[in-house]
Amino acid sequence: MNLNVLEQRGYLDRPIPDSIDLKSEIKQLLKSKNAVLLAHYYQNEEIQDLADYLGDSLFLAQKAKEVTADIIVFAGVHFMAETAKIINPTKKVVLPDLKAGCSLADSCPPKDFAAFKKLHPNAKVVTYINCSAEIKALSDIVCTSSNAVDVINSFDKDQELIFAPDKNLGKYLIKETGRDLILWDGSCIVHEAFSFEKITQLAIEYPEAKFIAHPESESQILDIAHYIGSTSGLLNFVQKDSAQTYIVATEAGILHEMRKAVPHKNLIPAPVDDDSCACSECAFMKLNTLEKLYLCLKYEQPEIQLNDELIRDAYLPIQRMLDLK
Ligand code: 13P
Ligand code: SF4
Repeated sequence: MNLNVLEQRGYLDRPIPDSIDLKSEIKQLLKSKNAVLLAHYYQNEEIQDLADYLGDSLFLAQKAKEVTADIIVFAGVHFMAETAKIINPTKKVVLPDLKAGCSLADSCPPKDFAAFKKLHPNAKVVTYINCSAEIKALSDIVCTSSNAVDVINSFDKDQELIFAPDKNLGKYLIKETGRDLILWDGSCIVHEAFSFEKITQLAIEYPEAKFIAHPESESQILDIAHYIGSTSGLLNFVQKDSAQTYIVATEAGILHEMRKAVPHKNLIPAPVDDDSCACSECAFMKLNTLEKLYLCLKYEQPEIQLNDELIRDAYLPIQRMLDLK
């Protein structure tokens, strides 16, 4: 990650007058600076409510491509903002907190991955969008959890494929597509925190509940799910399905939009192993606050900056995904 933490600290320390109404200032700044706010479902609720576009990773990448405004304010994590910059490089892309990283992206260092790739010279590389620009540049095509099955199926059956960095999504894809993928050993700390025992206990307490899960969760969790899907997949499912109660295994931020969509239904966040922490919240996503969003818009910092060569190499794998209908 291209962090300039010192620079960021300086700008984050700038005082915000108490009298300011942050929400209306942010709306005003978005207008006056011709900026568009893209936000992921895992963001803090008040940020989700301010977004011009709220959605999953695929939707946000599609919207980032279409933006004609001067500035993209990305309320998400670093790899998402980086993707926006790569796919729409003439725009200024800012992220409220540059330290908003991702355990999954961090689990795949480019040097190690390049060496891994060399071990499989005939394999094509499919990478989950949750990775750095350098990893995307080493890929043939990118995917998200919304389109991963389609991306894998777009290759000939006998084509050897590497899938990185999420081993849990990779195992799910092996099951779904019947293909023998070569997996990188990475994972998301949030989705690995769910407790199989506590979820099964909860299912006994709520026998009418359906259990739904994101495919970044571990196999034993996915094996007992009634439905598996991306954040938008899960959101659509609770709207179309007839059950009244759901146990939801993904980052808790999605519950905000779900509760708006189905206010009459009972949505229970899946419990995690460690009682002492809010593990089902992504600490990286939650680094973005209303205050940082305001400062980021006001000073147009911190900005995502990538060199032209990296943008060129990472662009094609993302564009191939967006072209796949
Ligand atoms: P989706 O919104 O594409 O399901 O991704 C979830 C995620 O982990 C983002 O970090
Ligand atoms: Fe990364 Fe997991 Fe957080 Fe998504 S929820 S940003 S995959 S650490």
